[in-house]
Amino acid sequence: MNEDSRKPTRRSTIAEIQGHEWLVEGPPHDKIPDVGVEAIVAKRIIEQDVVLDGIPERNLATFVTTWMEPEAQAVIAENLHRNFIDHAEYPQTAEIEKRCIRMLAQLYNAPGETTGARTQGSSEAIMLGALSLKWKWRERREADGKATDKPNLVFGGDVHVVWEKFCRYFDVEPRIVPLQPDKYVIGAEDVEPHIDENTIGVAAVLGTTFTGHADRIGEINDLLVGLKNDKGLDVPLHVDAASGGFVWPFLYPDTEWDFRLEQVRSINVSGHKFGMVYPGIGWLVFREESDLAEDLVFYENYLGKTDATFTLNFSTGSAMVLAQYYNLVRFGMDGYGFIMETMKENSEFLAKRLEEIGPFQIVRARDEQLPLVAFQIAADADAPYDEFDIAWQVSAERGWMLPAYTMPPNADKVKMLRALVKINLSRELVATLADDITQACETLEKKGGASKHERKRVKTGVGY
Ligand SMILES: Cc1ncc(COP(=O)(O)O)c(C=O)c1O
Repeated sequence: MNEDSRKPTRRSTIAEIQGHEWLVEGPPHDKIPDVGVEAIVAKRIIEQDVVLDGIPERNLATFVTTWMEPEAQAVIAENLHRNFIDHAEYPQTAEIEKRCIRMLAQLYNAPGETTGARTQGSSEAIMLGALSLKWKWRERREADGKATDKPNLVFGGDVHVVWEKFCRYFDVEPRIVPLQPDKYVIGAEDVEPHIDENTIGVAAVLGTTFTGHADRIGEINDLLVGLKNDKGLDVPLHVDAASGGFVWPFLYPDTEWDFRLEQVRSINVSGHKFGMVYPGIGWLVFREESDLAEDLVFYENYLGKTDATFTLNFSTGSAMVLAQYYNLVRFGMDGYGFIMETMKENSEFLAKRLEEIGPFQIVRARDEQLPLVAFQIAADADAPYDEFDIAWQVSAERGWMLPAYTMPPNADKVKMLRALVKINLSRELVATLADDITQACETLEKKGGASKHERKRVKTGVGY
């Protein structure tokens, strides 16, 4: 081998210095590379890939937090190396989880000391809460010497898909109250015909995924109290407050939907939605300790200390628990109140502008609602385009991710657009969004609706 052949080529020298070899070779897709790359190159590969993802600030579809304070981000970054489940090694983190649960129980007016769990999100909290309903129902039936083979759960078509998932995974019959073309939440008269002695519980939503309104929880509670007193049928109510659990206590504190209502036995909330924490953190809170079925708690002596666990998964990060606590103490009641009021004002402003622009109608704008605007083209408008065309056009022109979807059965002929107005959607951005929707409608007036191919690419998911 002569001297020259050992010399790196000009190209590889530059690649080594600049760390850019993957720019021309493409990143590994299918196989772990035989030899790794420099840290900076690995970082750049990822940065270049995610450039093609949507910009979270323009994501009007998601309920999930897309902005946190720099100090909160520092708390997260400094605690990524802690495994939450290692309670023996990280007892303070475990204590902070308990503080959060106590604060939420107090926020939801629990009558006394109680228990709960930190979860990955509302989905895990719902699975655990509903499992507890099933176990408690079985205990009651067994005590009465009655059959336990046909449990059912009653909820409306306005719930998140996780409720149907629970029923399928854990062998419970779902009794789903269908929606109607002009009725997007459920009340007592809807659930009553579905309840019987095999009903493990009723699930009601505080802030639906579809329009942000609440089921008529007070009414459903009254029905269940009546059934208990008149027929001896004790059917618990679980409130899915995934989004509403951090909104209602601040915007509508006088509305009773929580443990002030006798039959509300458990509540879930997503910390990563209006709790203002990045994903994933959720919470499950019981009314009383006895509402958690004892059989579901595992006592393990695995990591150096006997620990009671009630979770679906084991290892998980501590950072988001600490970030939730950060927000609770940092914002306090008045801070959360200010944030919720700000989002509400901005969503009202957007609703007003959309009504002025026309041809839109806002869905139940004056009712208690999450900070969002659910809207549709007015029934009497003669527009040569529909809601899906608008979603496509604003995304094509300005990159807004505005979801268009049809409502669940039996309101599935109804088309809807929905814009979340979170804290990082300032008044200036809201005004721009309204102008951009106007502009998109003007384009559609001239050119007609989106093509078949374009419509296939419209963002239609509602549940985030
Ligand atoms: C009402 C409702 N329940 C449950 C969920 C699931 O929550 P998570 O994403 O926290 O698992 C959502 C998500 O959007 C929701 O809106």
